[in-house]
Amino acid sequence: HKVLVLHGPNLNLLGTRQPEIYGHETLADIDDALRRRAEGEGWEIACRQSNHEGELIDAIHAARLDGTAAIIINPAAYTHTSVAILDALNAFEGRVIEVHLSNVHKRESFRHHSYVSLRADGVIAGLGSQGYHAALDAVMGAV
Ligand code: DQA
Repeated sequence: HKVLVLHGPNLNLLGTRQPEIYGHETLADIDDALRRRAEGEGWEIACRQSNHEGELIDAIHAARLDGTAAIIINPAAYTHTSVAILDALNAFEGRVIEVHLSNVHKRESFRHHSYVSLRADGVIAGLGSQGYHAALDAVMGAV
């Protein structure tokens, strides 16, 4: 079984980007921990980050064809703007879990709406990097 973890724009700056909101862990810390957990359960895992909407879409398209069972995605700011990412996820037949490090609902009102939530099977917000682990457990537990 295979899972894709996709991180959207600015998440490459984790650790130094507004740590009071997003925490002190780097993206590499988060991905390494997810990799250990998934591989420990016999899952294949790919972790990707991009600052470019089209690259995230291309990664979702690739996941349609390579047997990926689930996508865990933090679309970052594209959450609130991207019909194109929603459309790509609608073309993916596996499970989709949306993760946000921060609780977007207690922040600015423009963060309250998510296009991706129209497709996501589950949404986790506000648990920091633990949210990715909860998403991974849900995905691995379901198969
Ligand atoms: C985020 C929340 C978004 O509103 C923001 O644009 C991000 C990160 C989060 O993980 O909390 O870049 O997706």
